[in-house]
Amino acid sequence: MSLRLGDVAPDFTAETTEGTINFHEWLGNGWGVLFSHPADFTPVCTTELGAMSKLTPEFKKRNVKVAALSADPLDSHTKWVNDINETQNTTVNYPLIADPEFKVANLYGMVHPNVTDKFTVRSVFVIGPDKKVKLTITYPASTGRNFDEILRVIDSLQLTANYSVATPANWKNGEDVIITTAVKDEDIPGKFPKGHKRIKPYLRTTPQPNL
Ligand code: BEZ
Repeated sequence: MSLRLGDVAPDFTAETTEGTINFHEWLGNGWGVLFSHPADFTPVCTTELGAMSKLTPEFKKRNVKVAALSADPLDSHTKWVNDINETQNTTVNYPLIADPEFKVANLYGMVHPNVTDKFTVRSVFVIGPDKKVKLTITYPASTGRNFDEILRVIDSLQLTANYSVATPANWKNGEDVIITTAVKDEDIPGKFPKGHKRIKPYLRTTPQPNL
């Protein structure tokens, strides 16, 4: 069975390009992103790992550690990182997990056998400080991911973890948010002093509270 939201992200120990890690220990008390890609020395994956490398300061700002995985051995990862650095004009600055026996891939349901059992698909897991899965996204092998979208969801998750709000369609950091229905109308001014709009009894918005 694949992992579902709210499940504890499985712990594991694995070799990576930054040494052996115990996943939960490595995550510490912060957030994490674990993303798989089909294979080393493939074109879409090369661009993805480069794109993620350039975005790591944004993840760091949000207290999110990043790790990538493919079911290839460590020596292959190490050689491929040189290609990524060269072609994507970056220096990969997060661990690539080696998983030649598909141990981690199977724990996380990263192999979708009706597509192929030869490689992992493009899975993304966002893991909260409680080690629980907060987001899963699966992309096909032929589509490179939008890593800005992952950051956008993390912004939403971190906001909604601290305030009684949800974020609307296509929301971006800085835009108005939705007050959850659990908050009574009479409690809104105290909780959201920046003001609010009551569009419907169930649809009330307020400026983003943490800015
Ligand atoms: C790629 O990363 O380019 C790729 C990998 C597996 C299948 C298709 C594309």
